Amino acid sequence: MRVPLAALLALALPLTAAPAAAAPSPAAPATTLGSVIPAPVEVRPGGPAFRLTKGTVIEAAATARTVAQRLAEALRPATGYPLPIVARAPRFTPVISLATGAVGARLGGEGYRLGVRANEVDLRANSNAGLFAGVQTLRQLLPAAIDASTPRQRRWTVPGGDIVDYPRFAYRGAMLDEARHFHSPDEIKRYIDEISRFKVNYLHLHLADDQGWRIQIDSWPRLAQVGGAPGTGVDGVGGGYLTKAQYRDLVRYAADRYITIVPEIDMPGHVNAAQVAYPELTCDGVAPPPRTDTDVGYSSLCIGKEVTYRFVEDVIRELAAMTPGPYLHIGGDEAQATTPADYLTFEKRVLPLVAKYGKTAYGWNEIAAAPAARKAVAQYWGLDTSNATLAAAVRQGTRVVMSPANLAYLDQKYNPQTPIGLDWAGYIEVRTAYDWDPGTRLSDVPAAAVLGVEAPLWSETLRKMADIEFLAFPRLAAIAELGWSRSHDWNSFRSRLGAYGPRWDAQGVNFYRSTQIDWVG
Ligand code: ACM
Repeated sequence: MRVPLAALLALALPLTAAPAAAAPSPAAPATTLGSVIPAPVEVRPGGPAFRLTKGTVIEAAATARTVAQRLAEALRPATGYPLPIVARAPRFTPVISLATGAVGARLGGEGYRLGVRANEVDLRANSNAGLFAGVQTLRQLLPAAIDASTPRQRRWTVPGGDIVDYPRFAYRGAMLDEARHFHSPDEIKRYIDEISRFKVNYLHLHLADDQGWRIQIDSWPRLAQVGGAPGTGVDGVGGGYLTKAQYRDLVRYAADRYITIVPEIDMPGHVNAAQVAYPELTCDGVAPPPRTDTDVGYSSLCIGKEVTYRFVEDVIRELAAMTPGPYLHIGGDEAQATTPADYLTFEKRVLPLVAKYGKTAYGWNEIAAAPAARKAVAQYWGLDTSNATLAAAVRQGTRVVMSPANLAYLDQKYNPQTPIGLDWAGYIEVRTAYDWDPGTRLSDVPAAAVLGVEAPLWSETLRKMADIEFLAFPRLAAIAELGWSRSHDWNSFRSRLGAYGPRWDAQGVNFYRSTQIDWVG
């Protein structure tokens, strides 16, 4: 029997049906099979719960061992149990079993089946990416204390039943702006851990802008040396850059969590830091002053100079060589200092360079004006509900990732009282971030052209990890659900999000306690 998820949740979490303005926090409800974010496709509760004990083993074939390792790492700190990973569990031993094999075309490369019985959790998928997604679900089915970093005394039960799950969209992204404020590799890793819980599978890093340049490029070493010097963050706060070794380490770390890194070098605008480092990249050859304010739209590469294209090709070649993922993002937004004709000239030469180095070009939706963008992916960041230029490009083959600034930008304030963030696109409370559909948001772009959704986090007002977390959570969870789930139900999401609060607390995540949510605990 298939139970519609909304009906199931109404039964499972009756407290959420009657929110009251001044109600005390609801007591922690038992974790149910339906309390997962993003909402799974099918949830069939029933049968006895599984109890994780000191004697539980994790069974995985050699090919699934790294996923098993991630699961063991997730469960050991709070339980204090050894949870050995074995190729074959002894009979009658309580087991969490991870197996890949043909489990149905419907599940694709990222779907999974999870069966919870008295003595066994049975997780199956077509691929390790699917197993990893299932592991994230399993973590949410354990009590919230499972996310504590030191041993807790609990009955570690998983509610009985079955889940079948697979994503709506192939691209479920987050973006972190490294340029306006540099976030260290450890901070990026923590963010990767936090977003991977919600089955996000792309992390876009905005690596260069007017203020700073944040990635080592060997053929143009002053980019990082000068553009990543101390004081190159907004207001002169911070600085830094990723060495190639650090970038490659991040790529691996993300890949171990089934996240693909998408690097962005923004051009032909947003290039002041590059021009400070290399004045030949300006038309008059004079270095502009370094900038640490937050203005936009004043810098442009010199479209008529050949050195521009040597620079661009060198950067694209080096970036492509250290990026195994399919996409290379070349910005293209807010090029107000480039004439429209120059913009087209530039994109005509640069978009094919991305293909020359084996990558799919990806840019902000302005690139859709260029005929060469027909094989590219355009990231829609506008506020409108239609875009004729993008729609025309889509008819020629351009694919779209949806990041409307007034819905999906994590750097916008929640409300006028929010202490950090910007507000030029409007305030984005949790419900605003949740209540839209990436497939139908643009009336002139068909859902079939939408690869997915991404939640960008710009860093003008960010200084530390706690700032990242405060703006990202809970809204990132809302956007992740839009990317993964076919069902869309604010009351259901609101209930599940309220129940998720103790998990963020256990992880030490500085999330925003929106008054729209009845937070548990
Ligand atoms: C953007 O927010 N300028 C893409």
